[in-house]
Amino acid sequence: MAIDSNFLDELRARTPITSVIGRRVKLARSGRNWKGCCPFHGEKTPSFYVYDDHFHCFGCGVHGDVISFVMQMEGKNFPEAVEELSSAAGMEVPKDTRVMREQVAHVRSLEDVLEAAQAVWSAALYKPEGRAGLDYLLGRGLTRETIAAFGLGWASAGRGQLVEALAPQGITPEQMAQAGLMRVDEDGQPKGELFWGRVTFPIRDRKGRLVSFGGRILGDGQPKYLNGPETQLFSKRRLLFGLDRARAAVRAPRPKGVVAPDLIVVEGYMDVIALHQAGFTGAVAPLGTALTPEQLEVLWQVDRAPILCFDGDGAGRRAAVKAAETGLPLLAPDHTLRICLLPDGEDPDSLVRQRGAAFVAEFFAGASPLSSVLFDLLVGGVTSPGPEERAALRRRLAEVAALIPDKALASEYRATLFDRFFATFRQQGRGKQHKGGRPNFVPPGAVQDSHTVDMDQVREQQRLMLLLLVEHPQLVAEMEEALCRLDLPVDFAPLRGVLLDLSADGRLPQTGDDLQVWLKEHGQEATLAPLMRVDGTGLSHGDVEIVAARTRWWHFYGLLYRDQFIREVTDDVARFFSEKTGDTSQWQRLQARLEAMERLRRGGLDDADI
Ligand code: UTP
Ligand code: MN
Repeated sequence: MAIDSNFLDELRARTPITSVIGRRVKLARSGRNWKGCCPFHGEKTPSFYVYDDHFHCFGCGVHGDVISFVMQMEGKNFPEAVEELSSAAGMEVPKDTRVMREQVAHVRSLEDVLEAAQAVWSAALYKPEGRAGLDYLLGRGLTRETIAAFGLGWASAGRGQLVEALAPQGITPEQMAQAGLMRVDEDGQPKGELFWGRVTFPIRDRKGRLVSFGGRILGDGQPKYLNGPETQLFSKRRLLFGLDRARAAVRAPRPKGVVAPDLIVVEGYMDVIALHQAGFTGAVAPLGTALTPEQLEVLWQVDRAPILCFDGDGAGRRAAVKAAETGLPLLAPDHTLRICLLPDGEDPDSLVRQRGAAFVAEFFAGASPLSSVLFDLLVGGVTSPGPEERAALRRRLAEVAALIPDKALASEYRATLFDRFFATFRQQGRGKQHKGGRPNFVPPGAVQDSHTVDMDQVREQQRLMLLLLVEHPQLVAEMEEALCRLDLPVDFAPLRGVLLDLSADGRLPQTGDDLQVWLKEHGQEATLAPLMRVDGTGLSHGDVEIVAARTRWWHFYGLLYRDQFIREVTDDVARFFSEKTGDTSQWQRLQARLEAMERLRRGGLDDADI
């Protein structure tokens, strides 16, 4: 007999998990949650996350609630950990409930209860009572072989039949409730069977252990699918339907030259099963919820670039964005995500049946890396954004790239997103360099050149570039694209945001003095602080000629992105002469960049620049 579960719920609710863990581990905010270095394995960069009600380490996989944290951290058993937390919370462990003695044996028996139900239901599918269920599955195109391989079954339409069928094995309704086979009332008493009159889908964990069931109604009716409740064995956050089979298929030994099947995440039970039957043996699905960080981590243990498959309609695209947002904070150079959008209103099951496996295989083969579809997902549908919308989009792109903890990767995403942004929404009437896409499209990774990795030097160059813009705000519009691409440190970024926003809606003061007044009046002075030298100097406004400022700005930019800069200027000069517009202001701007390029080639900064 376990400690009363209501008491345990109350204890968990009254014990703030972050403060219990925070006493042992230095935690820092990470969005709505907290993270720190995992206390259970040696690490230097944090991969240990603390959520509202549990912790999880993406490095070593430890996972649990506040009670199991105390157990693992202090080597206590369950009752001891409960005792410690209860006294800290000023609660008393109920005396009259006996403490669980053999937790392992108990869990073992829950599995036995589920297996007993599975035996009853899978046999029923082939009896007269299960005829309708079998016909339904066959009617949906499943073969008898597939039905058997997935262990599909039939829960009889007569209520109370499972209780009756399991009673001779000594299985009580209470045990069935704990295994997630019964509904319970407010007092936790079994109230009736969960599954009846439904086709049953056994849900197994990645090692193939039975942990719960799903059930589908025949034809139309609500709810279409029922899933078992959370139990000691079953956590919906971690589980992926079909992973036991997909994992085995991906890892199976195979002849040389034969590639492993892709790990493919789809939406539903029937999609998984239909795909397996069609030969896509890496298909898995969450259980009717959005993908969680835990599920992504489980996926990456099997495949470094799983394909996430979504319906091409609005809801499917929103789901894809949500999955991307969950995945970005966890991305690393060695594991990523691919996205596949299916034709509007189709799911993999309907596609395989109507168009065949070869057709579907083409879609999966065309799955795109997250970096290249992210822009379309985030910006999809926007055609000609006004200034405010542009500013909002730009902010959103920057925020999304900033979700990635790996610096180099974040900067690649940032560069890719902004290159797409400017290629798509090139502003009219600003004498921009190119029409259409960037000619020498810079591959992500064309970030700061290798000879400028000295971070202090980079910071100083960026500081001077911002300073020049503060002194000559009229240059901001001209530099917008390059300014966005700069990989600025966090304390510089707010000033860039203010400059770009003001410029986007045409409110940017035209002189450095006016800009400083504006910043003061709008409580934004603090954005300038990081530009000041320690002695408070640094804003020697007014004394730099605009032409010189422009040239210097580009010179600094060229120091950061040398190859790309030279390529861009060369292209633009060629374009200027071939277009023969004779636009003198455009020529002046080009000259500044040519001059900057020339200085770059001569090497070093002129004294006057420092
Ligand atoms: P869908 O509604 O997309 O159904 O649900 P489907 O998978 O295409 O189902 P069929 O083809 O009509 O049989 C996708 C998944 O969402 C969960 C299930 O896990 C389902 O597989 N779901 C759906 C529920 O949990 N409950 C529901 O009522 C519906
Ligand atoms: Mn379907």
